[in-house]
Amino acid sequence: MTVPATGPAAPALDPTWWRQAAVYQIYPRSFADANGDGIGDLRGVTSRVPYLSALGVDAVWLSPFYPSALADGGYDVDDPRGVDPRIGTLEDFDAMVAALHGAGIRVVVDIVPNHSSDRHAWFRAALAAGPGSPERERYIFRDGLGEHGELPPADWTSAFGGPAWTRVEDGQWYLHTFATEQPDYNWAHPEVREDFLTTLRFWADRGVDGFRVDVANSLAKDLPEVLPSAAELSAMPKDGTHPLWDRDEVHEIYAEWRRVFDEYDPPRTAVAEAWVDSPERRARYASPEGLGQAFNFDLLVADPEAGAFRRIITANLEQSALSGSSSTWVLSNHDVVRHATRYGLPPLEGRREKQGTAWLAEGGPEEGIDRERGLRLARAATLVELALPGSAYLFQGEELGLHEVAEIPDADRQDPAFFRTTPEDRGFDGVGRDGCRVPLPWTREGSSFGFGEGGAHLPQPAWFGDSSVQAEDGVPGSTLELYREALRLRRELQGAEELTWAAGIDGGDVLAFERPGGWLTVANLGAAGTPLPTGELLLASGPLEAAADGAAVLPAGTTAWIRR
Ligand code: GLC
Ligand code: CA
Repeated sequence: MTVPATGPAAPALDPTWWRQAAVYQIYPRSFADANGDGIGDLRGVTSRVPYLSALGVDAVWLSPFYPSALADGGYDVDDPRGVDPRIGTLEDFDAMVAALHGAGIRVVVDIVPNHSSDRHAWFRAALAAGPGSPERERYIFRDGLGEHGELPPADWTSAFGGPAWTRVEDGQWYLHTFATEQPDYNWAHPEVREDFLTTLRFWADRGVDGFRVDVANSLAKDLPEVLPSAAELSAMPKDGTHPLWDRDEVHEIYAEWRRVFDEYDPPRTAVAEAWVDSPERRARYASPEGLGQAFNFDLLVADPEAGAFRRIITANLEQSALSGSSSTWVLSNHDVVRHATRYGLPPLEGRREKQGTAWLAEGGPEEGIDRERGLRLARAATLVELALPGSAYLFQGEELGLHEVAEIPDADRQDPAFFRTTPEDRGFDGVGRDGCRVPLPWTREGSSFGFGEGGAHLPQPAWFGDSSVQAEDGVPGSTLELYREALRLRRELQGAEELTWAAGIDGGDVLAFERPGGWLTVANLGAAGTPLPTGELLLASGPLEAAADGAAVLPAGTTAWIRR
């Protein structure tokens, strides 16, 4: 069956649009609030289509907008084929898709297949039906250990801290890899598989162009009768045989999904969120027989350092060439500390996103951060990201150069990762992800800085006004104007998915690569200025300097795009 792309003004039927798209992530509850109740909504998104269009993105990805108690910001889904009444209606959704398509912007929605919410009809039915019932088979229920089953079936910790097994009234326990309110589905159950195919078709029929697949590496599980301990689990290799993570047979599920995607013209696309251990294992998710694309978080966890960036770019381009997919690049999303803030903190060996959470856990002290340096490097890194072959995934607010909001009182926190941990172990993951999810500032002043007519569901700091759209719109050198110009030029310059390291320029702290058509990117990630290569300067992430002899200098922490 071939179904044409729906909607009166679907963008051109180019089946390869996703390979080098700039995709803008919208966190719907924090983007724009059309009815002034403090919660962003779909009509808010529709009202900002002119903004998105002027920004120049190719697609938007919406984090979940489904009915949810918001135990995990909407990643606890009550009904995957509905819209949260606080966010809108299906009619609002259709109007939003039509408006985005009308502006030539594709629409990607989030699919959350590892778990439902505990308010999902199936989970309610499972609780009502009791132990041993077919209803329980759709989830992962077990009897407890101990004389009366009073101990959990295993001592596992959830990804947000706290236990991964919760006991229900009749004494059985269920598995939740994330919060208590997020029971894991049993993907060995044919009804679970079938229901997700129905969900994919439901949204694809409404004109959705692609899907972002949440925790794509956890669906397939193989739990033996006697469960391994947490210590045993963490010692097991993640080579496709781990009981919980990145099992080889998860790809059978995605092969089924691919058949659904290919029922449409153009085929629907998907991108996997899979925090796996190697580019090789990630490539399996990006296979054309599977989801087609996978997030690559390597730049996100790296220091903004030329050597690290060079290695990561080289390795990932090799990998994507082998997989048949395109590369993806991410610097910020709704789960990590914003990159302008991370880069303002002193380097920490290894996983850079942990850097920000450690600083947040201390309450975000000003003496611990150089905000100006952070933003300068963030802008420089963004120009690298946008010049690379493949897709760039941008997170709402980064185009304003927004910093992470550190000053959220405990009483206003929403992230379950915050509540499921104690102050002692909050040092890293447990500090929570609310600081990047604060509603966007649209105006310098006014109620919720133009987010809506009312308040904002997470408190906005006073400094937000200076980073608002209004404060940056039309201002030369602002981060917003930098993103607009970069995205405009990217469309013009984008060619084959190829990159050559620029001989004689690339090396040491200077990252320099050329794309087909003479598009040269030079990023000075060192501590001293470097001569600006000759050619037509197209864009720079910050002001240039001049040497004593008048020659142009690319200052430390600055990237330039040059046409040669
Ligand atoms: C993914 C999402 C994150 C969510 C988790 C559980 O990692 O990006 O926000 O909390 O899955 O659904
Ligand atoms: Ca609202």
